[in-house]
Amino acid sequence: MVQQARKTEIYDALVCGDLLTALPHIAQTEFGGPCDLVLAADVLCYFERLEGLMAAVVAIFKSGGLFAFSVEPCVEALTDSAACKADDVVELPGNATRYKHRIEYVQACAELAGMEIVACRKTIGRYAKSITPVPYTLLLLRCRVSGMAM
Ligand SMILES: C[S@@+](CC[C@H](N)C(=O)[O-])C[C@H]1O[C@@H](n2cnc3c(N)ncnc32)[C@H](O)[C@@H]1O
Repeated sequence: MVQQARKTEIYDALVCGDLLTALPHIAQTEFGGPCDLVLAADVLCYFERLEGLMAAVVAIFKSGGLFAFSVEPCVEALTDSAACKADDVVELPGNATRYKHRIEYVQACAELAGMEIVACRKTIGRYAKSITPVPYTLLLLRCRVSGMAM
């Protein structure tokens, strides 16, 4: 992914590392202060729990910072699946460890971290085996607190 990104020659800097530890480093060394926007497309599905990630994002924002991301929603929660209703997170079958998240759980994590939902849209995130559309939800959160000192 980083090699592909480097080939585009559109990025000022590319940092490779685990999000939870790399985010504060990026804010300090690359930007020298709070970030305005964090964009994570098809990344949160690799995190089982989202509390730590949301807190790490807020920590590099000042009030008003925006966090845009996609999740694979736990759609069954909207119907009558008792299993999914009871769980905030459902592990997806397959080789890579991926998770679906219940939207109410995502919202609760956002609020706990000090962010509010500005927009929430359903979309098709990818096509399984290049054929079957997979529903995703796009969310835009706004930070209500200042996580990083100016
Ligand atoms: C399906 S790809 C999405 C790529 C992304 N949309 C882009 O344009 O670069 C998932 C990405 O999430 C990254 N990822 C998964 N868990 C991560 C973690 N704990 N810390 C940092 N990156 C992670 C993977 O390395 C991979 O680059």
